[in-house]
Order: sequence, then C-alpha cells, then structure tokens
Amino acid sequence: MTFKKVLRWFVTILGALIVVLIAGLALYIWLSYPKLSTDSVFTRPAGHGVFTFADIPRGQELTPQQIDQYAEKLLGEMTLKEKVHQMSGDAWLGDLVRLLTIDRNKYNDIAVLAGNNRRLEIPPLAFSDGPRGVGMNHSTCFPVAMARGASWDRDLQRRVGDAIGQEIRAQGGNFYGGLCINLLRHPAWGRAQETYGEDPYLLGEMAVPLMQGVQRHNVMGCAKHYALNSIETARFKVDVRVDERTLREVYLPHFKRLVEAGVAAVMSSYNKVRGDYCGENAYLLRKVLKEDWGFRGFVMSDFFYGVYDGVKAAKAGLDVEMPAALQFGRPFLAAVERGEVPREVIDEAVRRILRRKIEYLTRPDPMRYDANLVVSREHTELAREAAEQGMVLLKNEGGLLPLDKSKLKTLAVIGRLADVADTGDHGSSRVFPPYVVTPLEGLRRYLGASANVVYENGADLARAKQAAKAADAVVIVAGYDYRDEGEYIPQAPVPERGGDRTSLMLHPEEVELIRAVAPENSRSIVVLVGGSAIMMEEWKDKVGGILMAWYSGMEGGTALARILFGDVTPSGKLTVTIPSDPSHLPPFDPHADSIEYGYYHGYTLADKKGYKPAFPFGYGLSYTTFKYSNLRLSAAQVAPDGVLAVTVDVGNTGARAGEEVVELYVGFPHAKVDRPVKLLRGFTKVALGPGEKKTVTFTVRASDLAYYDPEASAWRVESVEHEILVGGSSRPADLLKASFRITEARTAQGKLSEALTGDWPAAAWSPGTRSDRDAPPASPGTRH
Ligand code: BGC
Repeated sequence: MTFKKVLRWFVTILGALIVVLIAGLALYIWLSYPKLSTDSVFTRPAGHGVFTFADIPRGQELTPQQIDQYAEKLLGEMTLKEKVHQMSGDAWLGDLVRLLTIDRNKYNDIAVLAGNNRRLEIPPLAFSDGPRGVGMNHSTCFPVAMARGASWDRDLQRRVGDAIGQEIRAQGGNFYGGLCINLLRHPAWGRAQETYGEDPYLLGEMAVPLMQGVQRHNVMGCAKHYALNSIETARFKVDVRVDERTLREVYLPHFKRLVEAGVAAVMSSYNKVRGDYCGENAYLLRKVLKEDWGFRGFVMSDFFYGVYDGVKAAKAGLDVEMPAALQFGRPFLAAVERGEVPREVIDEAVRRILRRKIEYLTRPDPMRYDANLVVSREHTELAREAAEQGMVLLKNEGGLLPLDKSKLKTLAVIGRLADVADTGDHGSSRVFPPYVVTPLEGLRRYLGASANVVYENGADLARAKQAAKAADAVVIVAGYDYRDEGEYIPQAPVPERGGDRTSLMLHPEEVELIRAVAPENSRSIVVLVGGSAIMMEEWKDKVGGILMAWYSGMEGGTALARILFGDVTPSGKLTVTIPSDPSHLPPFDPHADSIEYGYYHGYTLADKKGYKPAFPFGYGLSYTTFKYSNLRLSAAQVAPDGVLAVTVDVGNTGARAGEEVVELYVGFPHAKVDRPVKLLRGFTKVALGPGEKKTVTFTVRASDLAYYDPEASAWRVESVEHEILVGGSSRPADLLKASFRITEARTAQGKLSEALTGDWPAAAWSPGTRSDRDAPPASPGTRH
C-alpha cells in the first residue's frame, strides 16, 4: 500500500467517525431535550375555543382568586409535554455553549428564557442576573450589595431596586436574579460582595425594599441561593450539616422574611444540606419553604449544576430547572409518563409558575419602559449616592479627613487598584456599564486644575515613597479584584478564577507598599477595595486614615473624591465584623466536602467568646460626632405577644451635618437556653444638622426575641428580663442599656407566656410593608 492510500483510508475513517460522533451527539441532545415539540418556531397559536394566556385580561389588577382560576384554566388546556416544558429554561445548545464558554463578557447579555409556549401564548420567564445592577447589555453598575448594605438605608435599597426594575423592563426582562441573601458566615466567602452582611435581621431588612423596588415594575424577584450557600469554591459539592435551631434562627429568617414580603421566586443553591442537593432537598423546599412558610411562588434551580436527579428534584419541590432541560428533559417526561412522578407534582409546579406569570405579566405597569432609562442620569447619580452612603470610615486620626481642597497643592495617589475599573466579581453578578470612574479618575476630575495629582502604581517602591513625600496628602488604594474573590467558575476553556479568598490580609506587596509609603507622609489614607472584611493588623497603626470603599460601582471614583474632600460626610457602617485575628472566625474550608455550620459567627461569636474585633459590626466613623442619651422604654414589662416602644435621643455634637445609623440590639443575659449575648433587632438612619438633636423611636415585638425550640418545632419567648441596647455600633462601650421583662401573663388570646409565638421575627416593619397579596396571613400560635 502506498502512503497516499493509507492516508486516504485514514481520512475516510476519521471522517466517518466524526459523522457518527456528530450524529450521536445530535441524537443524544434530541433524546434528552423536550423543548422542540412544544416551542418550535412552526407552532401556531391554538385556534378558537382553546383558552390561552392571551385570553387573560391585561392591564388590571386580578385578585388572587382570579389568578388561581386563570392558572387552572390554562393548566386544563395543557398536554403533559407542555406542562413539563414549563418546568425548565428554554436555552438550546447554542445558548448553552455561549453561556458556558465562548464569551463570558456576553454572559446574560440577553435575558435567559424559560417556558415559552407559542400554542397557548404563554410568555417565557425572561431572566436577568444581578445584584449590582442588571446583567444584560450595558446597564447601570451600582456598588455591590455588601457596599449598599453598609449604608443601612432601606429607602436607598428600594430606590436601587426601582432603578433595576426599570432597566430590566427596558431591556425585555421580567425576572430578576439579584436578590442574593446568603448569610456571610466567614469573610473569605468568594461571593460575600453579593450579599448584605453577616446578620440575618439586616439581610431581610435590606433585601425586602430592594425586592419591592424591583417587583413594583412587574419584574419577578428571585431570592437566592436557598440555602446555606456561604462557601464558594466547594459550592457544587459541599454538604452543610446544621442543627435545626441554627438553621431556623441564623440561616433561614431572611429567606422567610422575603417570602412573607411576597418574593415571586426562590433559587435553590448548588450545595447539599444534610446530604441532599438543595435543588433536590424535600425538607428545605417542600417542608420549610412551601409548607411551613406557605410560599406560593416557584422554586428554580441554580444554573447547570443545580439538579442531578430530575425525578427526585420534582418530588422534592423544585419547579423550574435553569437554564435548560438537562434533567427535566425527555427522559424526565418518560419517567412522569411511567408514573415515577405523580401527575399532581407536575400540576403543582406548573400552577406555581403560571400563577406568577399571570400575576406579573398581565397587571398594569406603573410607567412606560424606554431604552433611555438604561444608564440614565438619574440612575448613575443613584449609583454615586449608593457608593457614598456605603463607604465606611474606619480610622481618622486627628481629624485628617476630610481633606481641604483649598489647601491642597499636590495629592499622591498610589496603588494599582487606583487606576483599575474594579467593580467586583466577573461571574454571573457582573454588570457591564458603559464607563467606570476609577478612584484616580474621580480624584483628578474632582480636583481639576486646583491641584496636581501624581499617580504611582506602587510597582516601584522608591518612586512611590518619593511621590508620597512630596505630596500634601496620600491616598493609597489597595485590596482585591475578581481574581481574588468571586464566583467559582470551573469549566474550560475559561481559566479558573474567583472562588473563596485564600487570605483575609492584603496582598504582601500592598502591605509592603503601605508600610513603606505611610511613614513618608503623616497624611496617608488607605482606601480599601473588596467584598467583605479585610484584616489590617500589619499596617493599620501606620496610617492616619482608613476608608472601606468596597466595590463601589461605576461612579465609585466620584463618590470617593466627594467623601475624601468632605462634600459628603461618611455614614456607612460595617455589616461584617472585622476580626483582629483569623482564629476569631468560625472554621472555613473552601474545599470542604462536608462542613458543620454552627450557631455562632460574626459578632455573636465575638460577643460570646469575648473576642475584641479590630472593627466591630455596626462600626463606622463620621466627620461629625453623635451623642446618645435618654434611652427609655414604653413599659417595664411586656406580654409575650406585646410590643415595646424604645425611644432614644441622638444629637449631632459636631460642627458638620451628618447622618447616623442608630442600632438597636436585644440582650439575653437571663436566658435559660443558650442565646447570643445580643442580636440586632432594629436600626434607622437619621440626618442631623450641627447641634441638632432628634428623638428616634423603635418598635420591638416581644415575639421578635423568640428562639426556635426544635423539640416542639416552635418559636418560644422566655419570660425573663431582657436588655435593650441602643447606640452607634455593636461595641458595648457604644451602647446605652435598659431592661424590661417579658411577663408570664396570659396573652390576649389566653395563651401562657411560654406559648408558641409563630410569627418570627421582624422588628420595625409594619403590616403595610407586606406586598404579597397571596401571602398567608401571619398566624400567631401556629407551629412552624
Ligand atoms: C449563580 C447564580 C446565578 C446564575 C445565573 C449561577 O452560577 O450561582 O447566582 O443567578 O448562575 O447567572
């Protein structure tokens, strides 16, 4: 045989193999994918006599009963295949490849669709990610949630939600995945930036207004990642062990809070809890979420790796698999036909999806949604305001800040991150704004011709030192970017990045830079960029000022300049404890197969063990000073179902106007069961002019102080003396204290004080904030 002949044979065999491979792949995809038959481009709307989505009246508020009736009618028209089709995302091979690999810069550039049914004219869910804005196209990039949480400003969250809702609608979406409320158990968590902080009460208080702002625009909000998703690198495999009290008191209250406030959907997380993947976890989905809390929306999986066993997942209460029918595909349909999944399970899932689609996609819009709403002036100004409100001043020796523009001739700006558009993670939460004002640009623009801004990236220590020495003040920008912390995205060909932090300290080069530069100029300020606590023990005594700026969004640089020069007085406070020693944190293993989440973390752990944090939860300085006085309670005794009014005077004792976050904690010094030393149960932000004093009032319901009794599956309040602590941080020295007793008296309903309390916990929210028309009424006395 000649060489040519061999080559020809070889090419022929190879060609045949490739053809067989492609055919096999196509067959496999066809077999495992149910979408084609019900959503083909050739499908026409059903003819006369068939009830379709288009027959539901538009532009009017339907009652929950009407919504149910229409959902039932539609369900009655659907074939089994059509029902199963509703239960998964519509992403097709091309979309999958694009989503997973080709160009991550285009991830979620258009909405991810789910459940488009042409015959019955059922519109798809159109999903866009968040939380720092809208993932689609080029949208407004707000500061990350952790930064916004540090504002402790509910109204700000609502306004950000409102802007996000508008931008989603203007770009064709109707479903928002940016309500991330996982609890920050350990600051190394890679996605810490996507959530609001370490405290369950605060998480709920911040997320509810964000959700309301978004949902107001008929965009369904999705609370994620349910549940116990606080380790990133191991997120696809880690099994979280947790006892029932810890689960109910620490890791779930914020989810319950969003459910009660009417969140449309919930996303299950990738990790396992007590042995089952969360997308297949009957206890979390069916028992807790749907039965105990009466959630009426739908549950969708996290993307791609959220479900492994479709039959198990459906039975466990998962309603939608995203973004494609990987498990809820053709074999699943066959399993349903064989009776492996009861038909009622399918009907229930589809009913939930249809209910939300009917509710959100037929009711009147509050406004028109034009493309010019996206990155509008109003929204970028809001992004700047959010950045300003969230920055936390941690140190300000000798009143170094604010800098005086009129006296400053030369400003040295030092550090690589000063000149980087660093808005945070490059995973699913990434937003692609049309521009980003970096710290350097913000300072240059702010100072204009009035001062000389000298920039050194810090690579050359001698030059950086020289620049610092010659300047009137020095701003060193240090911290992290998407390579240090973020979403863990393992698949090829995208290189691994993100994941959990490997250290809580700054990079050694940055520590060296700070330690070298700071002695050159006593007016040195470090601006920190990152998604949660950064430890500063090696250098914090060397510098005059420290400002935690987080990932501050597209207008972060503008906000930074306005804070440093005093146009804005800082008012942010930490929503995460910054420890002085990493051993003061709960155990954390980014590669864990299994881990136990304990009852204590953050400030509750520090309080319990007597650890002294470097900067405590709730801490943040201002350019002015505040004085708390005259703490008084409305009663010395309160019934277990009673309400206590707490009043305190807060005065601005400085010469500048400023805003103060007033924090209320409840202490449990006489508890008979193990309780934290104190728990946050109220906060508000007050604006005070120089010398001005205001009286702040909180309402605390005794039932907010309940603990979960796993034996009785019930919430209980103890009839003992409790403490009310009010002040400007969680540090004992910053808190005024008063006591009251929860009585043993019979309640209005005639129950004894240690009776079940049922409705956990939500101080400082009035019934008026409930937005879900179909949320079950709170029923004191029910067992959970
Ligand atoms: C993330 C989710 C996100 C989803 C869709 C997943 O990898 O964990 O938070 O919503 O992708 O973008």
